[in-house]
Amino acid sequence: MRLEYAGVSKEYIKDGVNVDAIPASARERRVKAIYAKKSSNMLDWLDLPLVDQVDVDKILDVGEKIADKFENFVVLGIGGSALGVRLLKDAFVDSINRDIGINVYVCDNIDSDNFVTLLDKLNLKKTMFDVITKSGGTSETLTQMLMAIDRMKRKNIDWSKHLVVTTTEGNDLWKFATENDIPTFAIPVGVGGRYSVLSPVGLLPAAVMGIDIVSLLNGANISRANSARLDKTNLAYTSAYINFEMLKKGMNSLVVMPYSDRLRLVPEFFAQLWAESLGKKVDRHGNVVYAGQTPIKTLGVTDQHSQLQMYSEGPRDKVIMFISVDRVSYDEVVETELPFTSHLTGVSMHTLIEHEYNSTAYSLTTLGRPNYTVALDRVEEKTMGQLIFYMEMMTAYMGEMLDIDAYNQPGVELSKIYTKACLHMKGYGDYAKAINEFKKNKSKFTLE
Ligand code: PA5
Repeated sequence: MRLEYAGVSKEYIKDGVNVDAIPASARERRVKAIYAKKSSNMLDWLDLPLVDQVDVDKILDVGEKIADKFENFVVLGIGGSALGVRLLKDAFVDSINRDIGINVYVCDNIDSDNFVTLLDKLNLKKTMFDVITKSGGTSETLTQMLMAIDRMKRKNIDWSKHLVVTTTEGNDLWKFATENDIPTFAIPVGVGGRYSVLSPVGLLPAAVMGIDIVSLLNGANISRANSARLDKTNLAYTSAYINFEMLKKGMNSLVVMPYSDRLRLVPEFFAQLWAESLGKKVDRHGNVVYAGQTPIKTLGVTDQHSQLQMYSEGPRDKVIMFISVDRVSYDEVVETELPFTSHLTGVSMHTLIEHEYNSTAYSLTTLGRPNYTVALDRVEEKTMGQLIFYMEMMTAYMGEMLDIDAYNQPGVELSKIYTKACLHMKGYGDYAKAINEFKKNKSKFTLE
């Protein structure tokens, strides 16, 4: 993996970043604080790439058994408990139309049209559900689980044989699972949802899909070593620094643009990390700062024909992070004798996408629009592991630079609390009345 940063350098961009001048002492302090796990008690995800920290053998064993025995594998989870699985599924199965011998679904919403019709469609006798929730108390995931159990009960299926639970050891859900002999996988306490893909949260579904989880972890471990470096070759730190400097210059948004369908969910995964970790009202000293840089999800080249105009000529408030891929697994050269397509003859599809990416990076640079590139050799488990861990570390370093807590999510919790209050859950206060009043507010027009 490489970080190419000419498009943000002073050589090309007015007010660019001088990567050679990144302050070394602050970098050393921040890198050490993170790796000594001093800056937060939610840094145990740092150790997930060390293969001996995760029970890989158990995960592989259970994953293989599920894949052999069942026709369908359904992940029930939301946010950090689903996005990593979706990323892996898309990169290694869906985007290359791979037949893995089992249908895998990730239900990360509570849209009943979708969920009920899925339950209707599946042969539940041949279906395994993986209930993934760090807290064990997320209403969306619990509702999905209860509906699945209820449906299986109504069909006289021994439902406990069709569930796996991935949660925090000792919580109510864990107890429910152990009381019913449901296999459990533990999410370490010091690993937050959005940093959990390299724990059983992502690894068990990956194993079911036949994804090489050892290579994934080994790749992550390469990034782990790189992110501990104390010089500018620390890719995650340097990337965070570029964004931090750009943010100070008014670049309030970060556009993420992979040039690969296999990586099309990377922006989705990254957006949660970047938004939920960095969008904070207060800093670590209690000062009101309203910190953060808004992530924007895009796809190259598709969005060259949709959003690029805005990034080229719209408000000068964005940094663009391209993700490119050097080599692909499948490619074909175009042969044509049609005169009006002669410029395409002998050109492979991958060559064309490379030209398009290079031209877009160059055009944005000439227009003074800051951009940098994370380049992967190819899309495989090892590089995916590198990319995932790099994105997590880049977020962690940006959190240090902004001096905020990158591991909590009070804004998310607030809406969870209000929902529980609406459901009259004990201990969640009397917000329901105020919410109902707000809903009834007459400030509206109706299409007539
Ligand atoms: O990153 C996070 O912490 C959140 O996005 C959570 O993953 C999300 O809210 C779901 O929570 P839980 O895993 O507890 O069900």
